Amino acid sequence: MALSGSALPLREPVQVMRIDVITLFPAIFTGYLDQSLLAKARKRGLVQIVLHDLRAWSPDKKHFKVDDRPYGGGPGMVIRVEPVVECVEAVQRMADVPGRLLVMSPTGRPLDQQLVRQLAASPRLILLCGRYEGFDQRVYDLLHPEPISIGPYVLNGGEVAAMVIIDSVIRWIPGVLGNEESCRSDSFSQDPHFVKAAQYTRPPEYRGLKVPEVLLSGDHEQIRKWREEDSRRRAELRRQWLARHDTACGNQTEEGRAPPHPPES
Ligand code: ADE
Repeated sequence: MALSGSALPLREPVQVMRIDVITLFPAIFTGYLDQSLLAKARKRGLVQIVLHDLRAWSPDKKHFKVDDRPYGGGPGMVIRVEPVVECVEAVQRMADVPGRLLVMSPTGRPLDQQLVRQLAASPRLILLCGRYEGFDQRVYDLLHPEPISIGPYVLNGGEVAAMVIIDSVIRWIPGVLGNEESCRSDSFSQDPHFVKAAQYTRPPEYRGLKVPEVLLSGDHEQIRKWREEDSRRRAELRRQWLARHDTACGNQTEEGRAPPHPPES
């Protein structure tokens, strides 16, 4: 069930959120985990991210191979069932709370802000990243992971999708953002169609483009009203643009361009 933005309270920081990532390429994550908000959140003990190299569970103790050719023929290699099942079972045993097991898949449930908030309310996630032609079907049959897609396109592996999930989820952990209200005012947070109002900073004028007068006025009530109106206008323009371009089906008509910011009417 999709939860509306305001239905879920922010989680109390009574427990550190734990995210386990199972991957064949743990090094992909290192730069990302050590930068910016995520590095700070980890240092401050707000989130714990644990990387697991799937090759450690390979039955092949010489070359640590985890893939093999598909039965029935076809291109590429398939990740074998035994290392994945044994790795997930071992990782589940590493903490006392069971992890919500997600598998990164282009055909999975589309990630949106409502799902992000649901995931952020979970004390523990386990993100399973595929490579090559994907996993042996018995991985799904035995483990019943929830397939999650970050969009209708195919990546070389699940690692970037896992980083997208981590990046979007940690914004909702209390204490991670400087301002607790920040994530609540993000686009899509209040409802799935909510679009944040335009933002400006100094200088007040650049190449003839002026910051709207009201934002310089100091009148908080007028500013609130302007933002509400700008947000409504952008949401409506975006709705019209999406209807015309039908992006979810990939049936983009005009040159397949992204909507302008804000979308033109
Ligand atoms: N793995 C490959 N492509 C993906 C996608 N679009 N979303 C999630 N996982 C993926």
